[in-house]
Amino acid sequence: MKGIILAGGSGTRLYPLTKTVSKQMLPIYDKPMIYYPLSVLLLAGIKDILIISTPRDIHYYEELLGDGSRIGVALSYSIQQEPKGIADAFIVGKQFIGQDNVALILGDNIFYGHALEDILLKAVKENTGATVFGYTVADPTQYGVVAFNKDGQVTSLEEKPIKPQSNVAVTGLYLYDHQAVDMAEHDIKPSTRNELEITDINKCYLAVNQLNVILLNSSIKWLDSGTYDGLLEAGKFVATTQKEEQNIIACIEEIAYNKGYISQEALGKIAHSMGNTDYGLYLKKVSERLS
Ligand code: DAU
Repeated sequence: MKGIILAGGSGTRLYPLTKTVSKQMLPIYDKPMIYYPLSVLLLAGIKDILIISTPRDIHYYEELLGDGSRIGVALSYSIQQEPKGIADAFIVGKQFIGQDNVALILGDNIFYGHALEDILLKAVKENTGATVFGYTVADPTQYGVVAFNKDGQVTSLEEKPIKPQSNVAVTGLYLYDHQAVDMAEHDIKPSTRNELEITDINKCYLAVNQLNVILLNSSIKWLDSGTYDGLLEAGKFVATTQKEEQNIIACIEEIAYNKGYISQEALGKIAHSMGNTDYGLYLKKVSERLS
């Protein structure tokens, strides 16, 4: 399965923070926001990843993350000329996806939990059609919302409903077979806000009975850091959890090492290059601990 991180958009909801800086480049405590979705794809075992951003910002991502060889994966980059919607990622990424399955993750979504890796690996292995991940939230009106009947079958999918049918938000991580490209190109039309909606892609899969929903329980933390409060909450969550658990969340180099993508020596070198920062010292510890 290939992976796409969507890290563009206009970012106007975070002005003036994002007037000159890409939203997904903003810090979530000790690392740029994009590390978090990237870490999710790495945990899912995905090694071929396309990063999509704006003409203004794509170069910063290339500079930050390079071709991925440093962490043993392949990273490539594409420009979305205008924010035409989340589902536009499949049109921008058409060549990259080819006939493969694809995981799409939004650049401002953060997932964390010890069970996450197993959940992701299983979902990627078992995916047929589409798989989305549901998460119970207090105010679902800001999200895609999925509702079920008493047998657990999906009864509705709505984007930012005024009167939600359930409290289950559809998170910004989606697994699809290659049909998603065709659906984005031919089956869905821009919404009233003039965007190709990801919820409309999910509705296409629902219509042919190929939409799977995995409900994430409270052992997983999901945060959408696309608002001032979301950003602050995410930073506080990461800082507190890292101190409590004595680890680093979304540490892409550690994940790459644990997955066997890079050697102990390579990890040691990366640690060294980060000097005496907490991040660098943590990587040094990881490389020594596991030797
Ligand atoms: O976070 C989960 C929610 O994400 C889902 O529940 C919704 O169904 C889904 O529509 C989406 O809602 P948002 O309102 O949060 O989407 P937003 O427009 O903020 O875009 C999400 C990310 O994707 C954001 O980091 C910017 C990026 N993006 C967005 C659009 C529309 C792009 O890179 N290009 C785009 O054209």
